[in-house]
Amino acid sequence: MRRNIVHAGAGSLTYAIREIVEVAHKFRDLGMEITYENIGDPVQKGEKVAPWIREIVHEAIDRNLAWGYCNTTGVPETREFLAAEVNKRGGARVTPDDIIFFNGIGDAVGKVYGFLRREARVIGPTPAYSTHSSAEAAHSGYEHLTYDLDPYAGWMPDLDDLRLKVKYNDSIAGILLINPDNPTGAVYPREVLEGMMEIAREFDLFVICDEIYTHIVYNGNQVLHTSEVIGDVCGIVMRGVSKEVPWPGARCGWIEVLNRHRDEMFDTYVNSVVAAKRLEVCSTTAPQMVIPRMMGDPRYVPHLRRRAAVFEARAKQAHEALQGIPGVLVNLPSGAFYMTVLFEDGVLNDSQTLAIANDAVRKVVEDLVDGGPNDRRFVYYLMGATGICVVPLTGFCCRRDGFRVTLLETDDEKRRWIFSTLAKALREYLKE
Ligand SMILES: Cc1ncc(COP(=O)(O)O)c(C=O)c1O
Repeated sequence: MRRNIVHAGAGSLTYAIREIVEVAHKFRDLGMEITYENIGDPVQKGEKVAPWIREIVHEAIDRNLAWGYCNTTGVPETREFLAAEVNKRGGARVTPDDIIFFNGIGDAVGKVYGFLRREARVIGPTPAYSTHSSAEAAHSGYEHLTYDLDPYAGWMPDLDDLRLKVKYNDSIAGILLINPDNPTGAVYPREVLEGMMEIAREFDLFVICDEIYTHIVYNGNQVLHTSEVIGDVCGIVMRGVSKEVPWPGARCGWIEVLNRHRDEMFDTYVNSVVAAKRLEVCSTTAPQMVIPRMMGDPRYVPHLRRRAAVFEARAKQAHEALQGIPGVLVNLPSGAFYMTVLFEDGVLNDSQTLAIANDAVRKVVEDLVDGGPNDRRFVYYLMGATGICVVPLTGFCCRRDGFRVTLLETDDEKRRWIFSTLAKALREYLKE
């Protein structure tokens, strides 16, 4: 090429959750049965969508309008419905204009970071759901800036770390939080959320709050929306149907813009995000048309409660199986459907192995683990020895070693096998 055509942030576009699948497919082609524990898709793991929800979707598809484009910002009745839902909570108030649809949060993330001024940075958690960290890094052309989630404090954000980083780096314009969190399963209590909003207020920042798992909380935690704690801080809350319906294939998500008119620059920025969406015409129409009927149905709240109870039981099961292994820390998840297994500092090295029966797979693993982070080494050996495919924690914009496993397996017997096999593999791998 006569000119360098590669974007400065191209190297930041990594997504370990999917990248590990390429290795899994290689092993599968060599005769291994793979148990995919890498991706947060309940449907792929066997969850059947409730028949009454399917019925509502069928009826929507029968309407001719479901087949057309909709407004750039979304279907008006749905935006009205969602704005009313926000206002019912009694915190920050919105109008339908503050609800803007995207093709899933993935699309919203691309626009929200992509149309920020390049020098304006958003600090996010480590570990982090990599769609955010990669998009922010790619937008800025630099490494993503992070604040710590503390594994020894139930993966809560270290607010002192956040405050100091914000204070001494005036390029930081915004704070990202994910609540409930992926990959840790942590749910932030009111005082932690208020502490984060306080930092945003003190330093005149906006917040981006990913609430895709907002209705999957358990262990005595209550749903607490950002709009209830944000006060007068400007914010973008991201919501969607992928996890709570679940309907990830709908590619349907939206943002709630909070306190948009409190800051002219924030308002101009949000308008630029909408203008970017306009270039694509609109987001998927049919799933939006379904939302008011589905979420307004008296069966929806019981549906959410039932699912939360399912994940609560599975979280306990995973935690029981994996706790107490020397060198390994697990926190009982309180929300979402993941658990992060942390290797304590210094327990991993570059010579640990697991026995791999398939010679061809062993050869590939030995080639793959030549260099690279030690948790990835464990993940490859685990997959080679057991077929279980998890994601290394270092793939979540994180310097700590560990891995993320999901709570999504619907087959009780298989789930038991997954957790007991993981526990056995961990003990085996870490033995002196
Ligand atoms: C924290 C978080 N946000 C967003 C998404 C993706 O949302 P969507 O399907 O709406 O793009 C995921 C998917 O795993 C996620 O974990």
